Amino acid sequence: MLPGPLPRVGARPPFVSAARAGAGPPSRSSGVWERSQGGCAGAPKLQPRVKEGEGAFARFVAMLAHGGCHAAARAAEWAWLRPRRLGRALRAQGLRGTAYRPLAGDAPLADRLSREARARPPLPPGCHAVVPRAMPLFHHAMKEHGKTSITWFGPTPRVSISEPELVRQVLSNKFGHFHKPGFGQLQRLLHYGVSSHEGDKWARHRRIINPAFHLDKLKRMLPALAASCADMVSRWEGLLADDGAPCEVDVWPEMQRLTGDVISRAAFGSSFLQGRRIFELQEEQVRLAMLLVNKIHIPGYMMLPTRTNRRMKRIAAEIEGILRGMIAKREDALREGKATSDDLLGLLLESNMEQLIRSRGDGGRASSGGMSTDDVIGECKLFYFAGMETTSVLLTWTMLLLCMHPEWQDRARDEVLRVFGGAGTLDYDGLSRLKIVTMVLYEVLRLYSPLPAVHRRTYKTMELGGVRYPAGVLLMLPLLCIHHDKDVWGPDADEFRPERFAEGVARASGGDAPAFFAFGGGPRTCVGQSFALLEAKMGLAMILRSFAFEFSPSYSHAPFPAPLLRPEHGAQVILTKLP
Ligand code: HEM
Repeated sequence: MLPGPLPRVGARPPFVSAARAGAGPPSRSSGVWERSQGGCAGAPKLQPRVKEGEGAFARFVAMLAHGGCHAAARAAEWAWLRPRRLGRALRAQGLRGTAYRPLAGDAPLADRLSREARARPPLPPGCHAVVPRAMPLFHHAMKEHGKTSITWFGPTPRVSISEPELVRQVLSNKFGHFHKPGFGQLQRLLHYGVSSHEGDKWARHRRIINPAFHLDKLKRMLPALAASCADMVSRWEGLLADDGAPCEVDVWPEMQRLTGDVISRAAFGSSFLQGRRIFELQEEQVRLAMLLVNKIHIPGYMMLPTRTNRRMKRIAAEIEGILRGMIAKREDALREGKATSDDLLGLLLESNMEQLIRSRGDGGRASSGGMSTDDVIGECKLFYFAGMETTSVLLTWTMLLLCMHPEWQDRARDEVLRVFGGAGTLDYDGLSRLKIVTMVLYEVLRLYSPLPAVHRRTYKTMELGGVRYPAGVLLMLPLLCIHHDKDVWGPDADEFRPERFAEGVARASGGDAPAFFAFGGGPRTCVGQSFALLEAKMGLAMILRSFAFEFSPSYSHAPFPAPLLRPEHGAQVILTKLP
């Protein structure tokens, strides 16, 4: 889901709308200046006055002078006064952190630490102490300033919250004081679905989407999942030499292709080929978005006609065109009373239609209405964004970790063969009996959480763990750091020990309250988590049944956040076909 570790700068950008912010036309009475209600902080509250008949030009110049004054005041507030105020409020309560650098915040430090982390030799295979490499800035800040420390995202202070109980409180958002930060126009180009909404709109979308992910619906999607996994296995079999000699495969692009296929089939069923085109376009879109990460807090940057911006807009238009066509066809079929498909789009439209009908009976209240076509397009784009890369990362790390720990590969394979035998279809009941495979997947999600962190922004003053956070502070929940915290998981926190999940997720971290957040938590917990786990179990079971795998000598163990945690130089493994 992004996933969205790319928070937007808290305050409204200053320069763009000075005129809208109160810099109205100057007064027309005699003299040059007169008192007004507005004006810059610290400057005399005067407005330029222009004599009758001085002409449009003079009025324009006076307006610019006045508007410029406002813009300068707002820029100073945005880039200097407000960050200083917020920083002081946090430090006064004992929090420590990096010093604020106007505008850039910690971007230069983050860049330097990230370059240094990547320049280090790869980790030895079997070493899972990935935090310093995957989150260099936060690792540095927490080491220097403590677990609850301040860093700066542009002019916005960002505080890391790493006590599991506090993380749970933030995610539960009981009083509605935390919002998900967005990232403006860039986010709209990538996806604009339930994960970006707040309040009534979020609740309405979530209510409509939830039924599409219910277990009975997911069971109906199993054949689509199985078809994609079977395609991958036969592609790999085709790569092996005729004499069955082992071959090297980079499983990272393979897993991306698999999960892209799965989401295309699961979301769009018979329109799978069009779905695949969307997948290719979304992939390019994400690649381009990564080039802009450090520029998104420059106000108006996304409006510039740069080559990347123009390409991103063209991609968004093409995706929307394809989706609009598909949705129109499905809606026509629904109106004619034809049965919907079992795919996500069909289920979403069906649920939306039911909601619309219900809301008519409800007097059409805004909070109970359905989704517009644009909303449905936003959700379909989000399925790709949230559902594809996350699961491909999970499957890739799982294969790599089973190479590092062959005893667990053997145990997982034995279980798959015991439950399903060497051939035949994999049904839901069998998949839900795969206990060892499930433990392995949870342990991989813990050690290599696809989303290393999620963010929230305080919307009102809020007390948390004895600290009062003013409005406009980013809270960073470093899921990966929490999953590696020895105070929480014990001295073996950095070790691969799937057996810690033998009694379920709640018990794995010792106490009664789980400290496992790979799928987030609270009302905004991942809507696709059962889908993802089903897909991962199906994929892994099919692979284990057909192949044994080990590292290729060309693999180097370098986890890298981009923004999901992935292997920087690929995931080369040697596959051997099992008899
Ligand atoms: C291993 C796979 C996955 C992981 C680790 C994962 C992780 C997460 C996390 C951590 C969140 C919470 C983000 C936050 O609170 O800011 C989230 C939300 C979300 N995920 Fe997933 N996800 C996965 C797979 C999927 C799949 C397959 C789908 C759909 C096809 C999906 C759809 C969503 C959506 C729509 C949200 C937003 C929910 C909301 O805001 O109400 N995810 N995911």
